[in-house]
Amino acid sequence: MRAPASLVLIGFMATGKSTVGRRCARELRIPFWDSDAFVEQRAGKPISRIFSEDGESEFRRLESEAIAGLTNSGTVVLSTGGGAPMAPANVEALKRNGVVILLQASAETILDRASRRNNRPLLADSDDPLERITSLLRVRDPVYRSVCDAIVETDGLEHEQVVAAVLTAYWNALDDRNRE
Ligand code: S3P
Repeated sequence: MRAPASLVLIGFMATGKSTVGRRCARELRIPFWDSDAFVEQRAGKPISRIFSEDGESEFRRLESEAIAGLTNSGTVVLSTGGGAPMAPANVEALKRNGVVILLQASAETILDRASRRNNRPLLADSDDPLERITSLLRVRDPVYRSVCDAIVETDGLEHEQVVAAVLTAYWNALDDRNRE
């Protein structure tokens, strides 16, 4: 069946949003977008340099601009940066024509996955990244949970299993909407 609404992935850094999103888009046969990649393309430099040269607030401005554009470009799979749901305007845009699915992972899993690549400015400058992740999660997790349509736990799962769980959650959320 043709995908009737966009599929939006939210969640903390290193929960697999980009990899899983790309594979979901392939399954649904709709375009895939990644808000971080879009921002990098537009700015012509990696996110770490946007943070260091222009500051986090400029990154957030570019991120909101990207989300406003990408949520206006038909039915897509959209993976978002971990901080995107913290801005109400972003949430409004993401929910407008999208099923919002939260990819969830424990702080330990996030640290393990994030430390394989050193491209996260919010963790790079921390002496205690686990504490940094835990304190960011404390603030963000309630927001993530309150804005999403469904939650997929990713701890201990292979990407393929997460993809299957996300697609099931997507179709279930659409069924629920149709019944309302
Ligand atoms: C951020 C997460 C990153 C990226 C930026 C800020 C955050 O995206 O948008 O470094 O605030 O959590 P990922 O969630 O894709 O790592």
